[in-house]
Order: sequence, then C-alpha cells, then structure tokens
Amino acid sequence: MRAGGSAAAMLGLALALVLLCGARGGLGADPIIVTTPNVTSGSNVQLYCNISGAASAITGHKWIKKEAVLQSDDTSSHQTVYDLNEVNTDTSGEYVCKFLTNPPAEGIVFVTVKPHVLVYKKSEHGNEGDTGVLICKCSSYPSVTEWTWYKKENEQYLRIVNGTDNRFFIKSSGNKTELHIVNLDIEKDPGEYFCNGTNEVGQDGATVSLRVRSRLAALWPFLGIVAEVLVLVTIIFIYEKRRKPDEVLDDDDGGSAPLKSNATNHKDKNVRQRNSN
Ligand SMILES: *[C@@H]1O[C@H](CO)[C@@H](O)[C@H](O)[C@H]1NC(C)=O
Ligand SMILES: *[C@@H]1O[C@H](CO)[C@@H](O)[C@H](O)[C@H]1NC(C)=O
Ligand SMILES: *[C@@H]1O[C@H](CO)[C@@H](O)[C@H](O)[C@H]1NC(C)=O
Ligand SMILES: *[C@@H]1O[C@H](CO)[C@@H](O)[C@H](O)[C@H]1NC(C)=O
Ligand SMILES: *[C@@H]1O[C@H](CO)[C@@H](O)[C@H](O)[C@H]1NC(C)=O
Repeated sequence: MRAGGSAAAMLGLALALVLLCGARGGLGADPIIVTTPNVTSGSNVQLYCNISGAASAITGHKWIKKEAVLQSDDTSSHQTVYDLNEVNTDTSGEYVCKFLTNPPAEGIVFVTVKPHVLVYKKSEHGNEGDTGVLICKCSSYPSVTEWTWYKKENEQYLRIVNGTDNRFFIKSSGNKTELHIVNLDIEKDPGEYFCNGTNEVGQDGATVSLRVRSRLAALWPFLGIVAEVLVLVTIIFIYEKRRKPDEVLDDDDGGSAPLKSNATNHKDKNVRQRNSN
C-alpha cells in the first residue's frame, strides 16, 4: 500500500514537471528584451533593443513613439537600433521597439529629460477685483510630478500654498499649472511670480509678472468716450442755438424764392405774351 502511494506521488510529481516544462517551453516563455538604459542627454545617441528567446522567427522591426512609426525594416536581426540626433524636450518620450514575431514582442527605451518650463504669457494683466490667472507649461517627458508657485517679495521667493486667504488657488496637471488669484488686490498682488516644476530627472522654473489695474483705470476708455460724446453734443447744441437767427434769414431767403419764381413766371408770361403777340 505504501509503495503504491509513493509511486502515485512520483507520477504526480513527474506530471507536474512535464506541465511546468510544457508551460515554459511549448506554450512560449516570454522573450527577454534588453534595452538601452534611460537616456537623459546627449546627441547622436543609439537606442537599441536586443531580443533573446523570441517566440518565432523574426520577420522585421519597428520603432514607434506616441503611435507614430519612426522606422521599420524586415530584417531578422536579434538587435534593432534607432539613431536619435538630439536629446531634448521635443524628442523626450517612450520609444517602443517592436520585434515582428508571432506573437510580436516589444521593449521600451525611455528618453527622459528634466522639465523645460515655459510661461504661457511673460506678463499678465488683471483688473482690481477680478480673478488673475498665471500659467506655466511643460511638455517634457516624464511629466511634472510636482508644481510649486512662489511670489517674489524683497528678493525672496515665498511659497504660495494652495487655498491661502481663500484667494490663491493652484490647478496642476502633468504638463501645466495655473495659479488663480481671486479678487485681485492692487496693493498686494502686482509683482513677480515664479513657477517651479519637478520631475524624476530634475527641475526648472519660469517667471511671470502680474500687473493689476485699478477699476477706475479700466473705466478710463469708457469715460473717455462718454466725455467725447458729451463734448460733441454740447458743441452741436451751442451751434444749433447760434444758428437759430441765421435760420430766420434762411427762411426769408426761402420766402424770396417763390418771389423769384414768380418773377420768372412773370417773365415767362411776358415772353409768352410776346410770342403770342
Ligand atoms: C527610466 O524612466 C522611466 C520613465 O520615466 C522610469 O519609470 C524608470 O524608473 C527609469 N529607470 C531608471 C533606472 O531610472
Ligand atoms: C545586443 O546585441 C548586439 C549584437 O547582437 C551585441 O553586440 C550587444 O552586446 C548586445 N547588447 C546587449 C546589452 O545585450
Ligand atoms: C487646490 O485646492 C483646490 C480646492 O480648494 C483643489 O481643487 C485643487 O486640486 C488643489 N490644487 C492642488 C495642486 O493641490
Ligand atoms: C497635456 O496633458 C493633457 C492630458 O493630461 C493632454 O490632453 C494635452 O494634450 C497635453 N498637452 C500637451 C501640450 O502635451
Ligand atoms: C523647485 O522645487 C524643488 C522641489 O519641488 C526644490 O527642491 C527647488 O529648490 C525649487 N527650485 C527653486 C528655484 O525654487
């Protein structure tokens, strides 16, 4: 009974081993793809992917970035290379190398750079009492994980905490940050602001200046137009008043017109009379 039991156990073990081997071999162990370690700087950089344990014969390669095919070939090499001219914000990103096997296999080369922070506008204007919005952007890869805002006061950068005074609000995403200043104050708010973006490679910042106009200043153009209209109306009014006596004369002239025509009528009559004579 004991011998039979151990035989069954050994059979079970053997079966398990066969299944395990089958899973690793026949059902396709994942191929191993070795890629260029993260690239953070340089020019004329070669990005490569090496495959070992491909599931089938290799019938070609593709390099893809953001769903755009950058390069493709139909060779059977176990290595594929992509030449990158320059590492910068625009070329940073995920470069996917694809081995055309069945099923296809792919690896990723990460081209990572420190943030390159840009301001939406170097200087922003707002009216007293309105909400001012300052914006910084960054399109580098990898995306910014932390944005911070500062206000420059007496040559020092004071960090702006979200929600301060219920007036300062920060809205951030991986490629953009907005500082909203509610109810702009003409005394306290104008000045230099600094945004700082940090990703896993480094950090960068940019300066935005804010100007706040008084409500009255915002009204100036409107008041100007109103004043202009008033002046025009007054001039017209005075002119009309001064014209009144002239108009009486004009009316006299007008009254004389029928006289003239009467005169001509008379002449006509005379002529006619002469003609009839
Ligand atoms: C390479 O970059 C990717 C994407 O930013 C990151 O997830 C990964 O941790 C980096 N690897 C190393 C070794 O730094
Ligand atoms: C990748 O493959 C190439 C050519 O097969 C070889 O010269 C190189 O050493 C390999 N690199 C790595 C990191 O495996
Ligand atoms: C700042 O606070 C507002 C709400 O008060 C919130 O919606 C927003 O996500 C916060 N921003 C950050 C960067 O935490
Ligand atoms: C910024 O990120 C958002 C999503 O988070 C995306 O829709 C937008 O296209 C990105 N803008 C740029 C300039 O990359
Ligand atoms: C930017 O922020 C990082 C932390 O997110 C900080 O270490 C760094 O000193 C800041 N840079 C400046 C110029 O404020």
